[in-house]
Amino acid sequence: MALQVFTAVTGAAWESELVGALDREDHGVTVVRRCVDVAELLAAATTGTGQAALLSAELRRLDGSAVARLHAAGVAVVGLVEPGDTRAADRLRQLGVVRVLPADAEPEAIARALREAVTGVPVAGHDVADPRAALPALGLPPEAGAGPAGGGRVVAVWGPTGAPGRTTVAVGLADEAARLDVPTLLVDADVYGGVVAQVLGLLDESPGVAAAARQAAAGTLDRAALARLAWSVSPQLRVLTGLARADRWPELRPRAVGVVLEEARRLAALTVVDCAFSLEEDEELSFDTAAPRRNGATLTVLESADEVLCVSGADPVALQRTVRALAELRDALPEVEPIVVVNQVRRGPVPGDARQEIATALGRFTGREVRAFLPADRKATDAALATGRTLAEVAPHSALRTGLRALAAELGGVPAPAGRRARRGR
Ligand SMILES: Nc1ncnc2c1ncn2[C@@H]1O[C@H](COP(=O)(O)OP(=O)(O)OP(=O)(O)O)[C@@H](O)[C@H]1O
Ligand SMILES: [Mg+2]
Repeated sequence: MALQVFTAVTGAAWESELVGALDREDHGVTVVRRCVDVAELLAAATTGTGQAALLSAELRRLDGSAVARLHAAGVAVVGLVEPGDTRAADRLRQLGVVRVLPADAEPEAIARALREAVTGVPVAGHDVADPRAALPALGLPPEAGAGPAGGGRVVAVWGPTGAPGRTTVAVGLADEAARLDVPTLLVDADVYGGVVAQVLGLLDESPGVAAAARQAAAGTLDRAALARLAWSVSPQLRVLTGLARADRWPELRPRAVGVVLEEARRLAALTVVDCAFSLEEDEELSFDTAAPRRNGATLTVLESADEVLCVSGADPVALQRTVRALAELRDALPEVEPIVVVNQVRRGPVPGDARQEIATALGRFTGREVRAFLPADRKATDAALATGRTLAEVAPHSALRTGLRALAAELGGVPAPAGRRARRGR
């Protein structure tokens, strides 16, 4: 039986010729409906009368959620772009359309792509030249890592409720990595209200992360666009600011956040993401995949990250929260192997040798080792907060800074700086 196909290729001069050719020749394809817009295509998809859709990049209101809904309805998608329009091809791929062909491709090739899309044959190479090749030189650093897929690493900084110091650790790690000459992007992805801009003394009027997510959803985010949305705080440090207002969380759709991180991997060798604490899913809402979930963005970050740091406080209450948070993480994302960092270590709340006691307790209740202990140093953190500067600037010799620098070297894949010799100014 011929493959039943919907088309939505309005606005293109070649539409009727193509539809005619597909229908006429014996390509094993029957065009069952020619849709004029996205709404009609989505309505057609729900009728169950077609197995694939052929759509053009120019289709108005085409976004990631429309593509996702087509897939959810069991309709495979093939995209068409004006010959040579690599930007449009890139945009379609970002929206989740993996098969993209130039509109002047032979009808036989288009029919084959439709059949392969339905049977799920993996895509080998791209039908249109890699759009990254057309990226204008915008004073961007060379692509991080090897290969066009973007080799930058993503480190998520997460942890339980109770302000264990996620933001302090995320900002410190990003700043130290940048000082060690690792091109770094710090992303504030806290869906309960981000404070990275404030901590760094940036007068931020519009959250960069929301704009990036918006462009990602529209399929227009690329490496250059992401660079434009980020502040350049120092030669090697860019910052994508967060949602200052907690009620704007629906702007961080998980899918879009995933795309932002993919582009981040092309922009920076190291991306450090300051995450919110909660992983809870709203049971009422989660059965409906279309409903936004507040913690979906956090889950996406943790799932896509190369490393997940779990920042813990160092007193008994904070440790108990960490035990619970790690159990939640294991339930939600069993494949993630978090790196435990204990912050705010001090004498007092834990009797005896605090490090030893904490390591033993966490080992017993979570089965995890502590990778790093960071001391409590209120004087240093207060000095940083008071001036909107980083620990390297206000407390360069503090043990807290030294600990963060060593961890940054490890995560950034550079040799650990030895003593003061390696200190760098801005
Ligand atoms: N090692 C430390 N020594 C002293 N104070 C610290 C240390 N780490 C963090 N703090 C302070 O603790 C407070 C909370 O830290 P931070 O904002 O980094 O936590 P958080 O986990 O990001 O919290 P939130 O849940 O609000 O996002 C801040 O005032 C910060 O300066
Ligand atoms: Mg925080």
